[in-house]
Amino acid sequence: MLADLADRQRLRRLIPPQGVDFSSNDYLGLARSPRIARAIRQALDRGVPTGSGGSRLLRGNHPEHELLEEEAARFLGSEAVLFFSSGFAANAALFATLPQRGDLVVHDALVHASAHEGMRLGRAECVAATHNDPTAFENVIRAWRHGGGKGRVWIALESLYSMDGDRAPLDAFRALADEREAFLLIDEAHATGVFGPEGRGLAAHLEGLENVIVLRTCGKALGCEGALLTGPAFMRDFLINRGRGFIFSTAPSPLMASAVREALRILAGEPEHRQALVARIDEAARLLSPLGAVCRGTQILPVIIGDDARAMAAASAIQAAGYDVRGIRPPTVPAGTARLRISVTLNASLDDIAGLAATLEEVLT
Ligand SMILES: Cc1ncc(COP(=O)(O)O)c(C=O)c1O
Repeated sequence: MLADLADRQRLRRLIPPQGVDFSSNDYLGLARSPRIARAIRQALDRGVPTGSGGSRLLRGNHPEHELLEEEAARFLGSEAVLFFSSGFAANAALFATLPQRGDLVVHDALVHASAHEGMRLGRAECVAATHNDPTAFENVIRAWRHGGGKGRVWIALESLYSMDGDRAPLDAFRALADEREAFLLIDEAHATGVFGPEGRGLAAHLEGLENVIVLRTCGKALGCEGALLTGPAFMRDFLINRGRGFIFSTAPSPLMASAVREALRILAGEPEHRQALVARIDEAARLLSPLGAVCRGTQILPVIIGDDARAMAAASAIQAAGYDVRGIRPPTVPAGTARLRISVTLNASLDDIAGLAATLEEVLT
């Protein structure tokens, strides 16, 4: 198996981060935020433990978890919130638990591996629909009903796709969900913190609706770790009672809950981080789009190379020049679309962006 991966040049290796950050999801640079570091120190000083010591359903339910969930619900405008130790765990629990046998999950063809993991564990029928095409979703639902499908329908998508940098037409999907009496599951992993009023994401205006559930990861723009599932109270109750990945897992560190609380306060009170990021995204679009980067007004700019080996060689050459750009190959992206994924963060200055553009030009021409 590993030899086979090596033969196909797909063996993965772990390497330490090196060079200017054009690959992380630390979009606002909050992973090194002094405010978050101080919040953790203060939490330690008031006796918040490093470890939770158990499942939330046993002794692991610390007041910091509950405070975070209450504050996040108020800030994001949702009825209820449940904190998980990662976005992967949250998505896997959500998809494995909420859709029932006899239901249909119609999901965007490009949804994240964590959603697939949950669908694999769940009992609902799952069908992929063409990327970002509400009509294709509607056709799947119609055909399923026509074929006798009687259960609930769950429409699953991401608001901002991490390998393409494009956004979903959320309002069209919302209209479809309302019309078809479906639930809308929106993964805001890459939009939370970056877009929307106070960084509340592209789906901020859909929070609080009774048929909308949103995943907000805390390890990307929030600079922390974990994830918040936001939505109606039944979602939270259901996962607490039936979500195996929630029930049979040690609760996240209460210190991390304190850190995420501070990150949300930074979003609410310091718009300058988002404003600075927008300026860098604009500069990256100006300098990198003539070189083939696809710029859709977001912080993720792919350069589609196509061939796996060429993409990886280009990434190595750029890394050798001091810029941490990663090559992304199948199966993370569809075959024939290997690419450089350039991620614009506040960890890279305007000068760094100019330097990357010069290097990219050398490497690609
Ligand atoms: C769209 C999307 N959803 C979910 C996840 C999982 O989140 P986490 O990294 O917190 O496990 C990721 C992370 O890569 C992601 O890109």
